[in-house]
Amino acid sequence: MSHGFISAAYIVAALLFIASLAGLSKQETAKQGNWFGIVGMAIALVTTIIDPRVSNVFVIIVAMVIGSGIGLRLADKVEMTEMPELVAILHSFVGLAAVLVGFNSYFDAEHGLALTAVQQTAMNIHLTEIFLGIFIGAVTFTGSIVAFGKLRGIINSSALMLPHRHKMNLAAVVISLLLMIYFVQHSGDDSALFLMTVIALVFGWHLVASIGGADMPVVVSMLNSYSGWAAAAAGFMLSNDLLIITGALVGSSGAILSYIMCKAMNRSFISVIAGGFGTDVIVDTDVDYGEHREVQAETVADLLRTAKSVVIAPGYGMAVAQAQYPVYEMTQQLINKGIDVRFAIHPVAGRLPGHMNVLLAEAKVPYDIVLGMDEINEDFPETDVVLVIGANDTVNPAASEDPNSPIAGMPVLEVWNAKEVVVFKRSMNTGYAGVQNPLFFKDNTQMLFGDAKETTEQIFRAL
Ligand code: TAP
Repeated sequence: MSHGFISAAYIVAALLFIASLAGLSKQETAKQGNWFGIVGMAIALVTTIIDPRVSNVFVIIVAMVIGSGIGLRLADKVEMTEMPELVAILHSFVGLAAVLVGFNSYFDAEHGLALTAVQQTAMNIHLTEIFLGIFIGAVTFTGSIVAFGKLRGIINSSALMLPHRHKMNLAAVVISLLLMIYFVQHSGDDSALFLMTVIALVFGWHLVASIGGADMPVVVSMLNSYSGWAAAAAGFMLSNDLLIITGALVGSSGAILSYIMCKAMNRSFISVIAGGFGTDVIVDTDVDYGEHREVQAETVADLLRTAKSVVIAPGYGMAVAQAQYPVYEMTQQLINKGIDVRFAIHPVAGRLPGHMNVLLAEAKVPYDIVLGMDEINEDFPETDVVLVIGANDTVNPAASEDPNSPIAGMPVLEVWNAKEVVVFKRSMNTGYAGVQNPLFFKDNTQMLFGDAKETTEQIFRAL
């Protein structure tokens, strides 16, 4: 297999990855984007394995068969609600792989030999790659494990608030930087490398442990970005151009996604990384919000029958209840009665970016009636009925009305401006951010208690 052929195959794979990202940015082309990614990855894997520099192909194939078997089974079993934790644990594998590649390259490199000036420069660059690769990989590895634990509920999701936590994080970065200089100057001193690895592992763990539950979506996409940079570092160590390109694509797209999510939650990226969301604000639990009003499914059906325009704001509860199918059937019924029905999607509704869009697409809701927050927020005053189905934080007026709220400043769906609001949930419990929602106590709001799937089906039957 010639070097030229391998380079050409890598360029094709890289172009397919770029086309994949472009496709994934729109619902209509997302499936096609996935296929580009699959084909690109297949080309990348086959080309790498048949590269004449690669030996022990049999061992690689056995490892791939075992890995794919486990991967296929897990991906098949995973629920939509568990997707972020799957993504988090997969990032930890990328981090661990980068650490292992780093140590392998370190033990493989012939350091300590007498070198010419040019060889010394090349060696210094290689040692820097190894050091950075292991550092980023180790941070990604433990950080992703903590993110997985928090999402799974194995680790407490509230922020760990150790005294001087910012100083400790800063110290970890500065000491690692000094160790890198020492490591390179001493032609790959192993004690510096091992010490940095321990610091990076603890740093990654502490970094994510000190970030609170409501910021987890940003953390997952931030770790996605780190895993990309870890892969790019591994690409440099292995002199594999495609791994460098792929890592850079993942690293930068993860960073852009983190930025978009931070904007949607009105949080600065630095404040998310610095952690401790919601812990600096004292939540007043004694506030008297007044009484809430309860309603039955039949009354909601009557309300809908007389409405001209209806907006449905879904959230995490719709995913939990798997209510998207009856929601679609009810929507069709209303549209057939000549009622204008649209969906309002908050950018961080649910537990991962695009969560609601995927569920609604799965239930065959047409894309053109699914609108983003900015597209629909101005229309609420002209809306007759808003159905909030299993959403809570994303429709919380405290975000814009209460400067002391932990979610103050977060852009939200201003559903309370509609004539009537019906909130579908099982209890008066709080949402993900753990803050009470004054929407439930407003004069134009009624609570429809119960599992969202069952209550939607009841409305469907009553209609
Ligand atoms: P949440 O604020 O978590 O509220 C979901 C609501 O659904 C809860 O109040 C819950 O109330 C209700 N619910 C749960 N199961 C239900 C069922 N079977 N039937 C009916 N209702 C049910 O959700 P949201 O409004 O979608 O907001 C998302 C939150 O998650 C934000 O704080 C966001 O920052 C955070 N977050 C987002 C992401 C991304 S990227 N989307 C990722 C991680 C975290 P009951 O228990 O009373 O039923």
